[in-house]
Amino acid sequence: MSQDLQDLEPIARDAGALLMTYFNRQIKIEYKGDADLVTAADRASEKLIVERLQARWPQHGIVGEEGTRTDLEADYRWYVDPLDGTTNFAHGYPVFCVSIALARKDDQLEVGVLYDPTRDELFAAERGQGATLNGKPLHVSKTARLAESILGTGFPSHKRHQNPNIHFYQQLTLRSHGVRRAGSAALDLANVAAGRYDGFWEFNLNPWDTAAGVLIVQEAGGMVTRFDGTPFRLDSREVLATNDLIHEEVLTNFREIFAGRGLEPLPSVAEYAKSRS
Ligand code: IPD
Ligand code: CA
Ligand code: CA
Repeated sequence: MSQDLQDLEPIARDAGALLMTYFNRQIKIEYKGDADLVTAADRASEKLIVERLQARWPQHGIVGEEGTRTDLEADYRWYVDPLDGTTNFAHGYPVFCVSIALARKDDQLEVGVLYDPTRDELFAAERGQGATLNGKPLHVSKTARLAESILGTGFPSHKRHQNPNIHFYQQLTLRSHGVRRAGSAALDLANVAAGRYDGFWEFNLNPWDTAAGVLIVQEAGGMVTRFDGTPFRLDSREVLATNDLIHEEVLTNFREIFAGRGLEPLPSVAEYAKSRS
């Protein structure tokens, strides 16, 4: 393990431990947008992470979701999501994590860690060195067909009415073993890397949601692209991550859904009740 990763892991763990001190306490919820909750915990975690990154790597820039923007012209830049899964967190639903990744100026991902303090799981990856979960090697699943896959997706907290994902959710649910919507894009990616999901997709993500998870999926043997199959970039917004084996099949399905093919009309309540009797 490189010195960078060795020094990074305790920062993610300490930020996760800090989040747990807020979890299940009466927290003050503020509203950024319609369902975008910002808690004191987000800010405290970002403060801890930023101070520790700056102390250890003063030459690197930092982009943090809660507003940190330092040295954006530096050769390397950290992407920090101090609490991914804020809505879950604010409602007491224990699915959230800390996500920190380092990218080169040209956006090549170098190191990433994700820490889930509710399960004490630390996912980590370095470019070219593989991925680990609590120090043990991590591999994507071997599921070869979409029909036998379990998938994850997410829905944004902003502009939900304009997001076409509900059509993808419906169609992929019918064509797989099911689609989960857990509320933490970073953990969803980690779950692809761990073989717990065979694939995950989402529209409209930010680099702090995806940076660490994408590297961890890639280093665990998975494939990450945009929805047209072109390589994922940190500014892509959309992400499709799979175990590689089902990637082409999911892309083919996406093309059909974008083209409006295969969308089945919904039955009325009466028709559905009749079909069950
Ligand atoms: C959100 C989560 C969620 C995803 C949203 C993200 P946040 O991040 O990753 O799963 O659906 O698009 O914004 O706000 O909890 O850090
Ligand atoms: Ca996030
Ligand atoms: Ca966040």
